[in-house]
Amino acid sequence: MAGSLDRRRIAITGASSGIGEATALAMAREGAAVALGARRADRLEELKGRIEGDGGSAVALAVDVTDEPSAHHFIHASHEAMGGLDGLINNAGVMLLGPIEGADTDQWRQMVNVNLLGLLYSTQAALPLLRHADGSDIVNVSSVAGRVANPGSAVYNLTKWGVVGFSEALRKEVGSAGIRVTCVEPGFVDTELQGHNENPVVKEAIENMRDQIGEVLTAEDIARAIVYVVSQPQRVSINEVLIRPTGQAR
Ligand SMILES: NC(=O)c1ccc[n+]([C@@H]2O[C@H](COP(=O)([O-])OP(=O)(O)OC[C@H]3O[C@@H](n4cnc5c(N)ncnc54)[C@H](OP(=O)(O)O)[C@@H]3O)[C@@H](O)[C@H]2O)c1
Repeated sequence: MAGSLDRRRIAITGASSGIGEATALAMAREGAAVALGARRADRLEELKGRIEGDGGSAVALAVDVTDEPSAHHFIHASHEAMGGLDGLINNAGVMLLGPIEGADTDQWRQMVNVNLLGLLYSTQAALPLLRHADGSDIVNVSSVAGRVANPGSAVYNLTKWGVVGFSEALRKEVGSAGIRVTCVEPGFVDTELQGHNENPVVKEAIENMRDQIGEVLTAEDIARAIVYVVSQPQRVSINEVLIRPTGQAR
């Protein structure tokens, strides 16, 4: 049976866990070849094995998107391994929360470097390869935090607000070349993301939020939305998808 993404060749950053991993699996099930990028190469190899075991096609490429040459290499190696490039899912991200006063500024740099600069480096490398007659996609994973700001989230808000603004400007820059740009903005998704926070006040606030929401989203919920976006006919450009768990108010 033909899949909705047959013959599409998609590079995905942050594919070693969470939303990126689920998106790679979902896209491969729909017939896409996927290039898996992240720092944890062992996780990528394991995922590639699962995809190939299900009859799909995948290439695992270690990348640190904060390193410009590494990000460029990931894009070019993806293009070479898959024989072309039809899409880039800019999904790699980190969320290290806490008040501005007294914050560890290394965490600010990490968020800016991954969530903003990593996305910019990958996008710039991909653009010339995405300019082709069949049309192509860039999907940038922002967040509800790119739309709603809250105390303790200021720098994460800054980065995700940046992704929203960048996506809209880029859409206007490259739409005439047949490159669609979509910003996906998830609410609370059950992944490893929250677990990188060590501040006990932040950890408690995250758990309280999870309790208030009730049933949070799964990575597969976001993956389905990304597949939906990329599998539309070329005339259809879904510019934004904001997805909250039903019980999430803010
Ligand atoms: N979970 C949520 O509630 C939620 C809500 C809204 C938006 N988001 C966004 O969704 C995206 C995916 O996050 P997730 O929830 O799936 O969390 P996750 O499971 O922690 O995944 C984050 C991914 O980013 C990768 N990554 C981090 N730093 C990297 C670097 N320097 N170079 C390359 N890859 C890097 C990680 O891989 P390695 O560590 O192996 O490099 C991992 O694969 C992020 O942009 C996040 O901001 C998540």
